[in-house]
Amino acid sequence: MITTSVSKAAEYLRSGRLVAFPTETVYGLGADATNPQAVAAVFAAKNRPSFDPLIVHIADRTALASIVTAMPEAASRLADRFWPGPLTLVLPRTSRIPDLVTAGLEGVGVRIPRHPVAMELLKAAGCPVAAPSANPFGGISPTTAQHVEDSLGHAVDLVLDGGPCQVGVESTVVSFMSETPCLLRPGGCSIEEIEAVIGPVPCAVSNPNLDDAAQPAPGMLSRHYAPRTPLRLVDYNSLAIPEAGRQCGLLTEGTRKHADGFARTEILAPTSDNAACAAGFFAALRRLDAANLDVIIAHRFQPVGLGIALNDRLQRAAAEHRNDSPAGPSDNISR
Ligand code: TXA
Ligand code: MG
Repeated sequence: MITTSVSKAAEYLRSGRLVAFPTETVYGLGADATNPQAVAAVFAAKNRPSFDPLIVHIADRTALASIVTAMPEAASRLADRFWPGPLTLVLPRTSRIPDLVTAGLEGVGVRIPRHPVAMELLKAAGCPVAAPSANPFGGISPTTAQHVEDSLGHAVDLVLDGGPCQVGVESTVVSFMSETPCLLRPGGCSIEEIEAVIGPVPCAVSNPNLDDAAQPAPGMLSRHYAPRTPLRLVDYNSLAIPEAGRQCGLLTEGTRKHADGFARTEILAPTSDNAACAAGFFAALRRLDAANLDVIIAHRFQPVGLGIALNDRLQRAAAEHRNDSPAGPSDNISR
């Protein structure tokens, strides 16, 4: 059921039920992070493997003390600059966070979202909220309440509607669990902005010889964010051409070149503004996926700013099979 009542949603969370809620990145599927049964219900609702840890959302930094045991100076500087916002920091966790939330890892991912409805909800609930994106595992992330209702409505007690998400791609995940910080997922906070604050942040590259559970970032599966329709990528300065005899969709932005003959076209923005493209990216991918096409052809984005996160999502959405199409090397996260 979709609601706009923050107090009702907070009450549901406190009583151990699941609530999908808006953040500036994508909608999350939330549960009280300190309630193992509620957290287990999140994994069940999404059909998510238990090796993939959840991000814990908090209203403000006073809540950090009960969740993490240490905050390195560089992490503090990132938090000062980007919280509330689309940045998740992985930090050593306290015992208050159940094993299930972190998939048994010593680090917990934590962020303060900047969506006003999320902030209000977190304050009203009074507990840290564990929330993955509110989509069935491996599917396209939701950026409206209706997206959640369409794909997960049967499994969620309540969907709190806060309008369409403004950023449109998930948070950037930076881990502080080893000597030097490393990037686990490019996202809504650009790597250039992060490096301007703390210097170079190397990227944890997935290893095709390891199984999914043993990857440095266990959630970074090669096939993810995937539409049902096959997706093929073309470089950002190449001409996109429809495949002969097939119904083809095109996902692009206004300055990229394409031939005639696409059955359906989604232009994300009139110019190469990657932030503007990100805002409508998942919704456009959903519309193309619902259009009964044989194939979707997508232009890669220029690999700057949010283009790096968008290319990462495209690469994973296009991967044919898990494990046989590792994320790198490409112009996405391996930069
Ligand atoms: O923007 C976002 O991050 C959204 C909103 C709802 O906050 N959430 C989100 O959650 O995208 P999810 O579960 O779909 O993706 C979380 C990513 C996964 O790749 C997961 O493996 C990684 O963050 N992650 C979470 N906690 C971690 C931890 N303790 N150690 C390493 N990676 C972690
Ligand atoms: Mg997700």
